[in-house]
Amino acid sequence: MNFLEAEFVQGFMRMADDGWNQGWHERNGGNLSYRVKPEEVEAVKDNFEIKQWQPVGTTVPALAGEYFLVTGSGKYFRNVMIKPEDSFCMIELDEKGENYRIVWGLVNGGRPTSELPSHLMNHEVKKLATDGKYRVIYHAHPANVIALTFVLPLKDEVFTRELWEMATECPVVFPDGIGVVPWMVPGGREIAVATSKLMKEYDVAVWAHHGMFAAGEDFDLTFGLMHTVEKSAEIYVKVMSMRPDKLQTITPEDFKNLAKDFKVTLPERFLYVK
Ligand code: 13P
Ligand code: ZN
Repeated sequence: MNFLEAEFVQGFMRMADDGWNQGWHERNGGNLSYRVKPEEVEAVKDNFEIKQWQPVGTTVPALAGEYFLVTGSGKYFRNVMIKPEDSFCMIELDEKGENYRIVWGLVNGGRPTSELPSHLMNHEVKKLATDGKYRVIYHAHPANVIALTFVLPLKDEVFTRELWEMATECPVVFPDGIGVVPWMVPGGREIAVATSKLMKEYDVAVWAHHGMFAAGEDFDLTFGLMHTVEKSAEIYVKVMSMRPDKLQTITPEDFKNLAKDFKVTLPERFLYVK
């Protein structure tokens, strides 16, 4: 099968394009990765052109031998649809989860995203926690969430509660809450360790003054999660731009009633009295 015609590749490209259209990917901002299923690897492997092994920059033993689709470092989401072979690649991990090699794509050179350590460490945490169900890790630069990191305390409890309050669907879409990573140098193992620690508990991690990471089972759920959190942040920004306080809001009691009817568990620590 032609690589670009495979359904999982099409899904990857569409998600990147959707993110571009939302305005979350200025220049080369953001990156996307997908843990490919064995049968999907099998279906496209005739297209492989295998390159040299390279160090990942961290160790992910639980992902040994797995394949990933991943956007290229310095590549633009804008171009994923227009020149896919130049914009992303498929990589294979070695038997220790320490090195990767490109097996398809990035035809004009380059390497996977500089956030590869964060992507892979998040994949590892999520694979283990969900019995292999989660397959997508998405990093974007959505303006409203980033704006909030300048005015809200950088605490999981505050971001979760404020964003839950801004749209009734939020506690149902991300019942576990949101984690916050303080400002750190991006692109390395240190920020990857901090983010993947939060991903043990949450599906969303905010990077202060930078962006957001979302994790999910498939492209729709992961994109939808990013979209829901960012829209909630947009409502927060609008509300706070109109007046400094809220006349009314969703109360802890309301959240408890919502949790009952929608059969979600909302951790008590987010339902504090203000
Ligand atoms: P890459 O171009 O290396 O993916 O980096 C973009 C980015 O958003 C870094 O956090
Ligand atoms: Zn970034």
